[in-house]
Amino acid sequence: MILAVESSCDESALAAFDPARGIVRETVSSQAAAHEKYGGVVPDLASRMHLSALPLLLEEFWDELPAVTRVAVTRGPGLLPCLSLGIACARALSLSLGRPLTGVNHLRAHVHSSFMALHAADPAGFAAAREALLPHLALVVSGGNSLLVELGRDLAMRVVARTVDDAAGEAFDKGAKLLGLPYPGGALIERLAADGDASRHRFPRGIPERADLRMSFSGLKTALRYQLEKLSDAELRREMPHLCAGYQRAIVDQLTAKTDSALEAGRHRSLGISGGVANNASVRSAVGKIARERGVPLLAAAPSHCGDNAAMIAFAAWADAGLPTDASVTPEAQLAVDRT
Ligand code: KG4
Repeated sequence: MILAVESSCDESALAAFDPARGIVRETVSSQAAAHEKYGGVVPDLASRMHLSALPLLLEEFWDELPAVTRVAVTRGPGLLPCLSLGIACARALSLSLGRPLTGVNHLRAHVHSSFMALHAADPAGFAAAREALLPHLALVVSGGNSLLVELGRDLAMRVVARTVDDAAGEAFDKGAKLLGLPYPGGALIERLAADGDASRHRFPRGIPERADLRMSFSGLKTALRYQLEKLSDAELRREMPHLCAGYQRAIVDQLTAKTDSALEAGRHRSLGISGGVANNASVRSAVGKIARERGVPLLAAAPSHCGDNAAMIAFAAWADAGLPTDASVTPEAQLAVDRT
């Protein structure tokens, strides 16, 4: 059984994963409310909160500890003080339990998280079921990253496309801030957009050329700022749902256009979606439509595993067995072309 620790940003999380049974126990403590008044994550505050939360979360895992055969931890990317605390906690656990420690790349874990439901449905048949779905194209959309990643038959990950500026979640959060909504604003924009008409306000679609897979979201917030400058307070209140709907539509359109373009060559046997923005129902359904049209199954991370969580870290440590297990802190870690 793998016990995993995640603390890369503003969620402290632990999970225990048994390859024969699946996720045995998991817990996430979110700090979002504490960071809300600052309009973003404050690294110093986040690391203090991890320091107090992790030992409390660990108490919930007391009964699982004797069965642990490996400890896993997020080594990056993420905030240095936050990652360091998780690694210190995991290293202490590894030493006291006398079990090896595996460092996990957080982005690899987001890619693997789309396969967790497949494993849960049939743990014994997982390897063969996954094999049939490779090469796989993963759309990873979170507050810090927007990536299209190919997971090959040899489990190598290759970045097919990434954003040249803001991540999709960042675009949601920055847009929300301009609209006067609290951080993190993605889910709130989605809720308000439900009553809006997306065609009333038009926002740019980043890099429109179909063959160019790069994403770009920073122009969106500039466009929103210009639109807001033209509105009185009363008009803003009236237009709020429509602005949210138009803004969300621009993000969804860009994500689906680039995903569809990457699938066009026909080399992928499945499509995945994961990361915090994968919680968004419009994103999920639009990506689902692309998958249906291209005739590939969609593997969507469960809502509870879209945002940062330790279950995907434990699962990735197992799914990536055979990779280097180095657990040194790597705040700037990216996905390399090779398997690391
Ligand atoms: O993966 P995640 O929890 O954190 C990291 O970036 O590591 O993703 C958080 C991001 C935030 O930007 C948040 O606004 C966005 O995911 N998000 C959403 C929704 N739920 C979370 N964006 C749009 N619609 C949502 N329902």
